[in-house]
Amino acid sequence: MKKLLIISLISAFILSCHSNKEDNTNTFNLEKANKELVFIEQQYLNMIESVPDSLLPRSVDNDGKPYYVNPSDWTSGFYSGILWYLFENSKNEKFKTEALKYTNLLESQKYNNHTHDLGFMLYSSYGNGYRIAKDSMYKRILLRGAKTLSSRFNDSIGAIKSWDWNPAWQFPVIVDNMMNLEYLFWAAKTTGDSVYYKQAVSHANVTLKNHFREDNSSYHVVNYDTVTAKVIEKITVQGYSNESAWSRGQAWSLYGYTVMYRETKNQKYVEQAKKITTYVFDHPNMPSNLIPYWDFNAPNIPTALRDASAAAITASALLELSQYVDEETNKNYLSKVDIILATLASSKYTAELGKNNNFVLKHSTGHLPGGREIDVPLVYADYYYIEALMRYKNLKK
Ligand code: GLY
Repeated sequence: MKKLLIISLISAFILSCHSNKEDNTNTFNLEKANKELVFIEQQYLNMIESVPDSLLPRSVDNDGKPYYVNPSDWTSGFYSGILWYLFENSKNEKFKTEALKYTNLLESQKYNNHTHDLGFMLYSSYGNGYRIAKDSMYKRILLRGAKTLSSRFNDSIGAIKSWDWNPAWQFPVIVDNMMNLEYLFWAAKTTGDSVYYKQAVSHANVTLKNHFREDNSSYHVVNYDTVTAKVIEKITVQGYSNESAWSRGQAWSLYGYTVMYRETKNQKYVEQAKKITTYVFDHPNMPSNLIPYWDFNAPNIPTALRDASAAAITASALLELSQYVDEETNKNYLSKVDIILATLASSKYTAELGKNNNFVLKHSTGHLPGGREIDVPLVYADYYYIEALMRYKNLKK
């Protein structure tokens, strides 16, 4: 029995050394950030040549072919968001021309009241476009979209309904929904209407109360009763199990509470973001290269698949959060960002020019339990990676 235990301990040690080695991380710096952005620009110039006129690239399908979506897909805004970021960084007009074309494709979504994802869809596209190009038409479209998003807020529950697609759920709220609040804050500032602000704050507070466990990990879905406003169940769709910590969900919540602090200056949100950071980085299953497994409780760790998208979102969030914390914590967070970005920029995660269907990052996990988007590139992994690189540049300049 003792022998068996020693053998399994030695195997676990060898496996963990192996997983550390395969990931060989280096340090990161401004020069590398610039170099990576130049590479990404080249990759996306190729992407531009391959994308159809009226569809948006999302990922790669099971046959290895590019997977394009319609404007109503939750990921539809990331492609033009990327093009806006690349235009902002390079001033190459080609990116602006394409950004305009693929942003304009999404206008009908301002009336789409069947999803909470309008922040992802419209704020990444029109939002970046308006920030950069200041077109007043974009402002009007954004304001109409914000009104639509706001219409999904339920006063008695105090939150925005995330999904409509499963009639078995009365009022599902997913932790990802924290990402759509930034859009409401923008609408509040732009119109002076405090309803948007109040809804965003209420949604974040209700999520804080009901989505988090004692250890500060987050459930994926909380389903509410529309009559009593009470929680019916806490479950998962994209995670391993109802009680597990789905990695991208943790990343969305970290990013979301960081934005909450930026917009309200309420210290409780920065405290929540810090707690999530501690949960994620102190987790015994966090690999040394800081690219998490797709779920912190996934079976088969250390051979379980990773999720580069969760790492990219986390890096971007930490770059902002590091500005709201004391010096020692700031150093700690930025050292983690260095490791994540160095790993993502390595050949293990960054594709070669012209490969990977012209996406940049490899090895993301979209919906493993649904059998979809497993170990693939994802447009939003690229979006948050580019955002992180640009935030890094701004910080180090
Ligand atoms: N918001 C959907 C996802 O993260 O996959």
